[in-house]
Amino acid sequence: MVRPVFRAESVFYRYPDGRLGLAEASLTVAPGESVVLLGAHASGKSTLLHLLAGLMFPSEGSVEAFGTVLTESALRDGEFARAFRQRVGVLFQDTDAMLFNATVYDEIAFGPLQLDLSELDVRRRVDEMLKLLELRAVAQQSPHALSGGEKKKVALAVLLAVSPEVLLLDEPTAALDPRLQRWFVELAEELRGMGKTLVTSTHDLHVAEEIADRVVVLGEDHRIAAEGPPLAILRDLELLLSVNLVHEHAHIHDGVLHIHPHSHLHVHEHDHH
Ligand SMILES: Nc1ncnc2c1ncn2[C@@H]1O[C@H](COP(=O)(O)OP(=O)(O)OP(=O)(O)O)[C@@H](O)[C@H]1O
Ligand SMILES: [Mg+2]
Repeated sequence: MVRPVFRAESVFYRYPDGRLGLAEASLTVAPGESVVLLGAHASGKSTLLHLLAGLMFPSEGSVEAFGTVLTESALRDGEFARAFRQRVGVLFQDTDAMLFNATVYDEIAFGPLQLDLSELDVRRRVDEMLKLLELRAVAQQSPHALSGGEKKKVALAVLLAVSPEVLLLDEPTAALDPRLQRWFVELAEELRGMGKTLVTSTHDLHVAEEIADRVVVLGEDHRIAAEGPPLAILRDLELLLSVNLVHEHAHIHDGVLHIHPHSHLHVHEHDHH
């Protein structure tokens, strides 16, 4: 069997103030897999992503990455820490926290400059990102003077510029308009084609359906309520209702679900390309 990228076993996480962030979560992510964490607000999506990112550590249970248990000491320094940080990239839900350089250009160049690249290669890589993310027009602007959607794109560019093989994306489409959401879905498709491993959190059923190989549903009790292939999960109205991802009388007109007054659920089949 191929060694999983992540293996979480019975993970509990309590915040320092005693609040429960995540309970009894077990999860395996295989190389090249695209896993979507689907859950209502406060269900524990960010908590789980921060644990996978080695930014905090379980109160109980364990998280392994590439076969090594993530602990404070394993990630403090040394070869594993360096390799882990290079292989795993994180897009934070709070994109602002990731941006600190004077211009968008410098922001994107920051990561590549830490690598062993020539000046020309750094410039090439930044230009490539500016093109890929359609950010050329704002390259000389301050990242803080951008719209929410533009900031999200800059943060993605920062991440992709160092080419991590594993991407942990916390609500990548939250600040995006429909056109940018579509664009993100295509980008995710491209990254999957490159063999990247993706773990993406969202409460957007549409995004989950489009980019996931597997959906992991978090309930409001901070536990994993279900996991499975996207269509099986998205057809399970009872499940979605129980975790507050849909409302009994809601009409979701984005093409994923239409919930009619008699709780009739239709899942539209999309052409998957
Ligand atoms: N710093 C913190 N201190 C105390 N409790 C926290 C902290 N951060 C999160 N929590 C709690 O942990 C639980 C899970 O939060 P988390 O941020 O992981 O949810 P989420 O699914 O990412 O929500 P959202 O969709 O709003 O981003 C919530 O009950 C939340 O109140
Ligand atoms: Mg969150």
